[in-house]
Amino acid sequence: MKNVFLFVLSGEHKTLPIAELEAVLSLANDFDLLETKKNFAIYKTSRSGSRFLKILSRRLALTHSIHKFIGSCYWKDIEKFLNALPKFEMPYRVRVRLYENKEKTESLEKQIGGLVSEIIKRSGRKPVIKLEKPKTSLEFFITGNEVYCCSKILEIDKKPFADRRPRKKPFVKPVSMDPRIARVMVNLSRKDSGRILDPFCGTGGILIEAGIIGLKLFGVDRDEEMVKGCKRNLEFFNLKGEVREGDARNLEKSFGGNFFDGIVTDPPYGRLSSTKGSDTESLYNESMVSIERVLKPGSFLVMAVPTNINIKTKMKLIEIHRERINRSLERNIMVYRK
Ligand SMILES: C[S@@+](CC[C@H](N)C(=O)[O-])C[C@H]1O[C@@H](n2cnc3c(N)ncnc32)[C@H](O)[C@@H]1O
Repeated sequence: MKNVFLFVLSGEHKTLPIAELEAVLSLANDFDLLETKKNFAIYKTSRSGSRFLKILSRRLALTHSIHKFIGSCYWKDIEKFLNALPKFEMPYRVRVRLYENKEKTESLEKQIGGLVSEIIKRSGRKPVIKLEKPKTSLEFFITGNEVYCCSKILEIDKKPFADRRPRKKPFVKPVSMDPRIARVMVNLSRKDSGRILDPFCGTGGILIEAGIIGLKLFGVDRDEEMVKGCKRNLEFFNLKGEVREGDARNLEKSFGGNFFDGIVTDPPYGRLSSTKGSDTESLYNESMVSIERVLKPGSFLVMAVPTNINIKTKMKLIEIHRERINRSLERNIMVYRK
């Protein structure tokens, strides 16, 4: 019997949330995407255990919640659909999310809630409603004339990411990366074990996120202060890693060829971080040559790249995600496969 899950994605970026989810689910090998709509995605899988969902929820940065998908119908058929609802545990509540005409949310919640309660009574049970922490949260996602019904399994806790914001770390610089973006980039490398390298590691924003999900950490930075600070940050989160002073254009000298299972990085991109005098495009392209040598065949490179830089590489470009850093600066998060 297949299980079907609905994932509610963050709306703060157009392509990254679904790309992150796809990348992480690809590690499990048996999740098939059935449908994406608005900010949710529906998958079927042969997995049933909640343990796997808990692991997922600790890993994903841009997913809000995970639900058991019950079914969908047209709005005109809602009564018929509700009549066929499988029996669920009490107490329960009904929640409606309207993607259009949001002002009607409350009245639709009452309407659907009323129908559900009638159906329960007709089946001979007594409806027990609890708005806070019910056993079953029945959720209805309504878009256009379609209704998607599910029950919430878990809400993803955002606090751990908030607790790792740059200013909560002992060593901070203006270049320090937001932990959620760092986590998404790590997730796009499609690894849950093995060696990961950040050849422009700075304060360690990417390495910390990779360490928390259990990857073996390697970092390189040309700046001695960054190397020391990065080590301090890793220690602060009880993470071990090999961080050394070096040049991202000469990685094979330190590590040899085909050494890493993934490379995730955020090289200097202009005013905020130093390129130590080198022309930014040459720095990127010279580093790409070295990165390609130390990455294992089939593995992924995930790199943030300013939009005005033209990357030349033999590696295969898999995905590009445009991201706004501030009002005047945009960059691409690029995913390559060797
Ligand atoms: C944008 S910052 C990385 C920020 C990092 N993601 C963080 O969370 O702190 C880029 C880093 O690249 C380093 N860098 C510049 N040129 C380099 C080179 N040729 N090799 C290695 N590191 C270099 C800079 O010292 C800087 O720390």
